[in-house]
Amino acid sequence: MRMRKKPNLIPRMEACAALWVKDPEGMRGRWRELMPGAARLRLELGCGKGRFTAETAARHPEDLYVALERVPDAMVTAMERCKAKGLHNVFFIDGDAAELDRCFAPDEVDLLYINFCDPWPSVKHAKRRLTHEDFLRRYRLVLRDGGEIRFKTDNRPLFEWSLFQFPKAGFALSQVTRDLHAGGPTGVMTDYEEKFYRLGTPINRCVGTKGPLPDLPLSEGLARALPDWQAEELDISDVTGLPPRAETEQLCRLRLTRREGPGGAELLVLKDHPRPGTVWVVSLTAERGEDRAAAADALVPAARAGGFTALRVRCPAEGEEHTFWRSRGFGDLRPDGDGVVMERLT
Ligand SMILES: C[S@@+](CC[C@H](N)C(=O)[O-])C[C@H]1O[C@@H](n2cnc3c(N)ncnc32)[C@H](O)[C@@H]1O
Repeated sequence: MRMRKKPNLIPRMEACAALWVKDPEGMRGRWRELMPGAARLRLELGCGKGRFTAETAARHPEDLYVALERVPDAMVTAMERCKAKGLHNVFFIDGDAAELDRCFAPDEVDLLYINFCDPWPSVKHAKRRLTHEDFLRRYRLVLRDGGEIRFKTDNRPLFEWSLFQFPKAGFALSQVTRDLHAGGPTGVMTDYEEKFYRLGTPINRCVGTKGPLPDLPLSEGLARALPDWQAEELDISDVTGLPPRAETEQLCRLRLTRREGPGGAELLVLKDHPRPGTVWVVSLTAERGEDRAAAADALVPAARAGGFTALRVRCPAEGEEHTFWRSRGFGDLRPDGDGVVMERLT
């Protein structure tokens, strides 16, 4: 939202000092002290000029309402609106949604609103959309289990794209509508919404409820743990020499390559072997020791994100290879022929 710089911005903001939280990081984990006994904490991202903020907070005096906006010129109007209404349950943060977890503790927020966020239509800017999976995963950090994200937008392509983002970040979708006001005005409207409604633009809305995170494929987990690398699944048809009782369907062969410069590793694992929930490392090879170490380190969070609870590897009972795995938290589980099976929990 582009806005003209308003004159007297600072004095106007200072006049709303009672609603303006200047040190939001200092309030992390303590927001409810502002309103002891508050039933819920509602948090609005990108509140703009605050029509929705003021009306929703007024309708729910039992709840504490925090509105975040990164453009002070817009936020000051929102604060003035709330002050004029005499609201005592609303507070404002002059900040960025990307830094939410620095201002709120885990589970501190019950309900989060995203209304008419900037659509960033170019694919190369997709990560800036406030409903991008990465943002949704950040909101998870502060939202309690079962907490909701309520999202509204006039932008249909953004909406359709967002519907795919919510489940990837562990939010179950409900109340999905592509024409919220089809049966007449519904709920509190935002400033933007009112304009679009008058123009006859349909409003899209959905609710995402925080549930468990979906299990990530190992390749994706590794790519996340190694953001400067690329992970690619390779053909497994020529793989031989598997441990006894291993099935080819359990096999996963991955090539990890550094995006810039030389380096990489190749990994062969068996998923759910020898028991469900365990990843068996058949081999991990790399030309450079540092690449092999980086890949082994990334394997732990990747397996955890994939829903696996343990990693196992077979190696000589002592020597360099044994030390390599032991220094990564693996411990001897049982002797195995001339070697040993090592395990670490994820
Ligand atoms: C299109 S406006 C919508 C304003 C209001 N929600 C409404 O519906 O009328 C989007 C608002 O989100 C704010 N915004 C965008 N990205 C933000 C971010 N990362 N953190 C905080 N505010 C953000 C913008 O400054 C702008 O005020």
